[in-house]
Amino acid sequence: MMSAQQMLKVYVTRRIPQEGMKLLQKAGICNLSVWDSDEPVPRAELLKGVAGAHGLLCLLSDKIDAEVLDAAGPNLKVISTLSVGFDHLAIDEIKKRGIRVGYTPDVLTDATAELTVALLLTTCRRLPEGVEEVKNGGWSTWKPLWLCSYGLSGSTVGVIGLGRIGLAIARRLKPFGVKRLLYTGRQPKPQAQEVDGEYVPLDTLVRESDFVVVSCSLTPDTQGLCDKTFFSKMKKTSVFINTSRGAVVNQEDLFGALSSGQIAAAGLDVTTPEPLPTDHPLLSLKNCVVLPHIGSATYSTRGVMSELTANNLLAGLTGSEMPSELKL
Ligand code: NDP
Ligand code: DGY
Repeated sequence: MMSAQQMLKVYVTRRIPQEGMKLLQKAGICNLSVWDSDEPVPRAELLKGVAGAHGLLCLLSDKIDAEVLDAAGPNLKVISTLSVGFDHLAIDEIKKRGIRVGYTPDVLTDATAELTVALLLTTCRRLPEGVEEVKNGGWSTWKPLWLCSYGLSGSTVGVIGLGRIGLAIARRLKPFGVKRLLYTGRQPKPQAQEVDGEYVPLDTLVRESDFVVVSCSLTPDTQGLCDKTFFSKMKKTSVFINTSRGAVVNQEDLFGALSSGQIAAAGLDVTTPEPLPTDHPLLSLKNCVVLPHIGSATYSTRGVMSELTANNLLAGLTGSEMPSELKL
């Protein structure tokens, strides 16, 4: 056991699942300071709370930039984020300061792929509209031309970013009778063989797909990738799904494409900003389904994510190998 003076200060920016908290408490090396709320820590509190910390456990909603790193000061050895996405971290600044980073790949792949499939089916088969019609009395009888939509059988699906989650989505979609599975990325992937994936230029994917699914990471190259030009190439009957990050999409251009009938529908689990204001134009559209960033939100996944985040943090504090360290 460490003495009170030897204990390492760890700042935790939110209430997290107890599995992870228990690990941090039991380790006996951390002096924990927690923003004990389900709501984000205000910036001023974060800057104050992180001062002198050796470890920082953060969330995707915390922007960890030079200001936060300066506020933390030279003790900071490790940042462990409760997410696989790390676009909220100023990697160059972190690297410059020799700080290690832990993240949560793999453990949320299945949950996120499952949610993506659920969102795709919900969007393309117009489930929210159907549910609404049942409730508001719009369901008068069985009608041959009512609430028809586009299904997956015989379709072409295009996945932008066939990474861990992209591949898991493709695996789940294939059994629905998908005819062609196209994908783009920085290079072809040997694992694409498993889903008969065809590596194609982005332009081909956008023009030929009935379903475009975005599962890439947010980088300077992918920021704003799905813009007016992108949507103008999509088929009028096609459905757009994004479960990566909101900033990959130009939302004004998406609104234009949806309201003009340039594309059939869109399903988004991620937006800019988050939360999306309740008066946002996208929310006025029947052909747009928006979810509150719940890709990884199963009890077990969040529990395992919190354990991994805690173990990454503890390894960073003790200078040992992390279960999942981000290569900087
Ligand atoms: P991976 O790193 O395994 O996959 C990311 C993929 O993005 C890679 O295949 C990469 O391709 C691709 N990519 C990068 N740049 C480009 C580009 N310019 N054009 C096309 N593809 C590109 O990460 P995961 O699959 O584990 O996670 C992906 C993302 O999903 C996360 O970064 C996060 O933002 C998001 N996410 C969202 C969740 C939610 O709740 N909605 C839950 C979990 C994750 P290449 O290998 O060729 O570089
Ligand atoms: C991530 O991990 O990046 C997701 O967006 C939330 O699980």
